[in-house]
Amino acid sequence: MSKTVAGLIVLLVACGAPPVPSAPAPTADAPPPVTSFIALLGDFAGFEQWPQFDLGEQPADGFHVAGHRRVFINRPAARAATSFPVGTVIVKTVFDPSDGSSQVFAMAKRGSFNFGGAVGWEFFQLDAVTASPNIVWRGETPPQTALYGGQHVSCNLCHAMATANDSVLTPELALLPY
Ligand code: HEC
Repeated sequence: MSKTVAGLIVLLVACGAPPVPSAPAPTADAPPPVTSFIALLGDFAGFEQWPQFDLGEQPADGFHVAGHRRVFINRPAARAATSFPVGTVIVKTVFDPSDGSSQVFAMAKRGSFNFGGAVGWEFFQLDAVTASPNIVWRGETPPQTALYGGQHVSCNLCHAMATANDSVLTPELALLPY
């Protein structure tokens, strides 16, 4: 046996079997789902750039003012989801260009909240159709001083009935079964 071949054999024996590819390094665990979300002003900023649905011109209906309705959502629900995840923010604007009047409502999926109504959702009125609106009021229901069509109306009145769609009423935001 030549010296070279003997050396090669020694080298192969020393190296042993080719290394078995090791398992991929463990990745960090996926973060746990968010269970609580308290919307701050910044969570509404730039809402006009979010995915949106144009509901067209609608007449006044005793609660909403007349005007062009649009709905904006910060992140549409995943397909086959049975509810909107905590952290979802939906803004609805009604704007009447003829006199510049507007009405801006929002709802945010807060988590453990509003058990007697639209479960999980906190309601808001925002101050105007601007890129960075301010919060006029927030809570499970409007304050007694907030009147719509001259009356105090609970947001839960209509939204809590939409149990099959997690209290969201816009047809374009229907949760898809698959
Ligand atoms: C008279 C029934 C009624 C009341 C009361 C009501 N809403 Fe709605 N809301 C609707 C309907 C219907 C829609 C679907 C869009 C449309 O047709 O304007 C909607 C849509 C919305 C949306 C868009 C998300 C969704 O559910 O589709 C927000 C945000 C919203 N409403 C906020 C409010 C807030 C805040 C209040 C209370 C101040 C309120 N709503 C009270 C009927 C109502």
